[in-house]
Amino acid sequence: MTGTFITIEGPDGAGKTTAAADLRNRLTAMGVPCLLTREPGGSAIAEQIRSILLNPENTAMDPVTEAILYAAARRQHLMEVVRPALEAGMTVICDRFVDSSLAYQGHARGLGFDTVWSINEPAVQDLLPDLTILLDIEDEQALARIQARGQLDRFDLEGRDFRKQVREGFLAALRRFPGRIVRIDGSQTREQVTEAILRVCRDRHIL
Ligand code: TYD
Repeated sequence: MTGTFITIEGPDGAGKTTAAADLRNRLTAMGVPCLLTREPGGSAIAEQIRSILLNPENTAMDPVTEAILYAAARRQHLMEVVRPALEAGMTVICDRFVDSSLAYQGHARGLGFDTVWSINEPAVQDLLPDLTILLDIEDEQALARIQARGQLDRFDLEGRDFRKQVREGFLAALRRFPGRIVRIDGSQTREQVTEAILRVCRDRHIL
């Protein structure tokens, strides 16, 4: 695989989507061919799975079903979008990836990292990111941002305890994969976050 695979992770409200877009714009301006994409979704079939996952009416969804559906969307998106772009030598920036499953389904839903990892192994195989940025943020600030956005999905409707578990889950993933995941303070300004991400990329010689 000749391209570079970068994922941006963090709790809802951490600023992933903005950071991913800003990173794409900076890399493009530097002449680096890149693709910005997101999970769950990013391809027609995966977007259909996303709509089931995020539908606020699906309150009866079993946590294992949920984990399998995320892994299914992930697989489809990897095969249709991410892998071809990496093979073409592009830098792929993906808003959420397998660490979201570890944090949300593994930690917050309580399935455990091992179960979630075993569900995801056939989906991901050897396509782990070269670098994962964890945008970490205190719950109060995250909540203020979620509320300012207005429209809530099934996960936004979860309570404070759930969000706390999600954050802890990401920090546990960071401890599990210290070589791949780098924590960046998401409470900084938009510009500071982008600069911090670029610095990590340069330090790791992936730019
Ligand atoms: P996201 O697209 O980041 O939401 P938004 O568009 O509101 O920013 O993600 C949708 C939700 O899916 C988010 O709350 C986290 C959750 N999620 C998981 O629980 N597991 C996963 O593996 C992924 C990728 C996302």
